[in-house]
Amino acid sequence: MFEKTLLSQKVIVVTGGGTGLGKSMATRFGELGAKLVLTSRKEENLRTAAREIEAKTGAQVLVVPCDVRNYDDVEKMIQGTVERFGSVDCLVNNAAGNFLAATEDLSPRGFDAVVKIVLNGTFHATVAAGKQMIAQKTGGNILSIVTTYAWTGSAFVIPSAVAKAGVLALMRSLAVEWAEYKIRCNAIAPGPFPTEGAWAALMPGTGAEEQARARIPARRFGEHHELANLASYLLADGSAYVTGACYTIDGGEWLANGGSFNQLAVHDRTAVKQLLAAMKPKRS
Ligand code: HXC
Ligand code: NAP
Repeated sequence: MFEKTLLSQKVIVVTGGGTGLGKSMATRFGELGAKLVLTSRKEENLRTAAREIEAKTGAQVLVVPCDVRNYDDVEKMIQGTVERFGSVDCLVNNAAGNFLAATEDLSPRGFDAVVKIVLNGTFHATVAAGKQMIAQKTGGNILSIVTTYAWTGSAFVIPSAVAKAGVLALMRSLAVEWAEYKIRCNAIAPGPFPTEGAWAALMPGTGAEEQARARIPARRFGEHHELANLASYLLADGSAYVTGACYTIDGGEWLANGGSFNQLAVHDRTAVKQLLAAMKPKRS
């Protein structure tokens, strides 16, 4: 789909880059010539992903464990990137947390657990990378992974929905504010793409996957390479005039339905709550 040098020499930081969609995007960026920084909390996942990406693509990969909820950690991660590669050209805000819960049963700590990763974490990474991009005077490119319920809202995932809506507003606002510094800010809103993390958090009980697929006019889930190619396009210089945009990649799902988990609201509420309680990790 692209020339092999599309992202040649670009230094790209991917938060949550050790698993799922982050790892798939990083792999594609590596194939297209980028230098990569993978960051998240679990060093082992990052190292495994880095080894696989290096072997598959030949890309240089730096691993920096970092919790995006902690601004100091994030600043150190950006400093480490500059020490190794000399600059930060692109940031992909992909790290997230999510779970299904009835809102009246959600504790303030549960709300914080998701919002602090998704909204605060994206703000931290965006500001730390943005300051570096401004200082470099070479411009930059920030891409955030949201989801279609950022604008439709969705039942049972309220912390994620409000946080993703905030991230989208952050990208649109900074697209204007940081145009002065030649920093572009865009978003991608995926529908369902099979990953271990999303499936464990969001597919309650038997039949959930079939129901989720049936909601999609394309009658299939997204394939990782499709999202990775869209992200590559948005990070490439050829899309230089695209900023403040949000590209939907969902096989038509939100136009056909909207609110990814709203269907749970039509089932018996006691049964739904039992299902969600069974998914909640047990405290020892
Ligand atoms: C209700 C829950 C809960 C659940 C945790 N909590 N899981 N409440 N239902 N399933 C509550 C706890 O009871 C606690 O509150 C508080 O949240 C903090 O819990 P911790 O376990 O200490 O949280 P933490 O270790 O910080 O973990 C954060 C996490 C976890 C979000 C809960 O799942 C995580 O780290 N996830 C990262 C990976 C992930 O989620 N990937 C999926 C992304 S998919 P109390 O009050 O009891 O102390 C995605 C797709 C979007 O975003 C779009 C799909 C279409
Ligand atoms: P995933 O594999 O669970 O990815 C989430 C990543 O975030 C993990 O690598 C995790 O790594 C990292 N992370 C979580 N908390 C963090 C923290 N505090 N600091 C740093 N990193 C943290 O799930 P995924 O499906 O690939 O999701 C990737 C992105 O796509 C998310 O933004 C998600 O909302 C979005 N999305 C996914 C789908 C889908 O259907 N899969 C649909 C729409 C949108 P650690 O645990 O090592 O920290």
